[in-house]
Amino acid sequence: MKAVQEISSPPSRRRMFDLARIRGDFPLLARKVHGKPLVYFDNGATSQKPRSVIEVLNRYYSEENSNIHRGVHYLSERATAAYEAAREKIRRFVNARRGQEIIFVRGTTEAINLVAQSYGRASLKAGDEIVISAMEHHSNIVPWQMLREQVGARLRVIPINHDGELVLEEYRRLLNERTKLVSVTHISNALGTIAPVKEIVKLAHEQGAAVLLDGAQAVPHMKVDVQEIGCDFYAFSGHKMFGPTGIGILYGRAELLDEMPPYQGGGDMISVVTFEKTHYNVLPYKFEAGTPHIAGGIGLGAAVDYLDGLDWARLAAHEHDLLTYATQALSNIEGLRIIGTAREKAGVISFVFDHVHAHDVGTILDQEGVAVRAGHHCAMPVMQRFGVPATTRASFAFYNTREEIDVLVKAIHRALKVFG
Ligand SMILES: Cc1ncc(COP(=O)(O)O)c(C=O)c1O
Repeated sequence: MKAVQEISSPPSRRRMFDLARIRGDFPLLARKVHGKPLVYFDNGATSQKPRSVIEVLNRYYSEENSNIHRGVHYLSERATAAYEAAREKIRRFVNARRGQEIIFVRGTTEAINLVAQSYGRASLKAGDEIVISAMEHHSNIVPWQMLREQVGARLRVIPINHDGELVLEEYRRLLNERTKLVSVTHISNALGTIAPVKEIVKLAHEQGAAVLLDGAQAVPHMKVDVQEIGCDFYAFSGHKMFGPTGIGILYGRAELLDEMPPYQGGGDMISVVTFEKTHYNVLPYKFEAGTPHIAGGIGLGAAVDYLDGLDWARLAAHEHDLLTYATQALSNIEGLRIIGTAREKAGVISFVFDHVHAHDVGTILDQEGVAVRAGHHCAMPVMQRFGVPATTRASFAFYNTREEIDVLVKAIHRALKVFG
């Protein structure tokens, strides 16, 4: 029997970028939908998983399943070691200083709620201000509205211009001595805009405000170094970075996490419990109440192993090529308007037609085997900003190809014929 640690270690340390080989690593990409080869352009919603991640999950449940941090038996020790090894891989991946700064959560949404309910409730009072931006996902809006109700804080919003870029002069103007927290997305899921996060952090810190970055769309596409960025918190989801669903990460600076009260109470987050008083566990366990998604954590470690094996310079160049090629091809389609034209942009293209609804476009594309997202992308304020009810969104990953973009273009022409 193979131990989980062995199972979850990388197949080899080669760094490669061979597209055909990479596609072969993702079993789902080979399937057909409605009799057509699948073209998967819904990576912003969730990414597909490499075989190595799927196999780690399968083997974990087949051969190693056990609860962690509590058993003295063989399986429990193996599972604990594998789970903690995954934490270390993730620490290295985002270059956090210490493993204690990597908190396993369910995903970006839970990570942001944790910061709002723990850091926010403990440090903010009536009149304090939280700054977010006009291009946030609902998961980086609603938790702050809930906190606002609880403590009487005020929510300020950095506007975006017509290209979907943050207006930095407005951001500077919003910052003041009442600003306690800035929480913005690193990459917009609806527009693809890459925010100037280092500048955002620097300006916030000059005002003494803490910064949370929503990295859900960034971590799968660019090398993120939390120390270099200098943020206080960084949130991301496993399922968007080729790992399992139900697992994600909150990175937090240890100095802040140490001072913060627990988010949830229960097993594992304590050191001593009596009816009179409970002493909490050390970091990171203080924030990890209850049995976690053990397989998910180990699977996320396997996803990091997979990503570590890729040549990231070539990966980024390939994704940029896909964006440029698709932008050009879609711009040639009459009546198509791209929403989100920032200079610094990731592989996301949101588009609309004046006379055809995004859902109708999405439905015809689906019949052609092309999976895109149609709707508000959990970013209703972005739709309001651009005066559209919804967009059709194609979001790319490194395993996509120019040929798939050609299929998308053909399918859009078909949709226009049907609804034109
Ligand atoms: C920018 C951004 N933030 C947050 C989220 C929420 O992530 P999750 O649903 O994995 O918690 C998403 C998901 O689409 C996203 O794109």
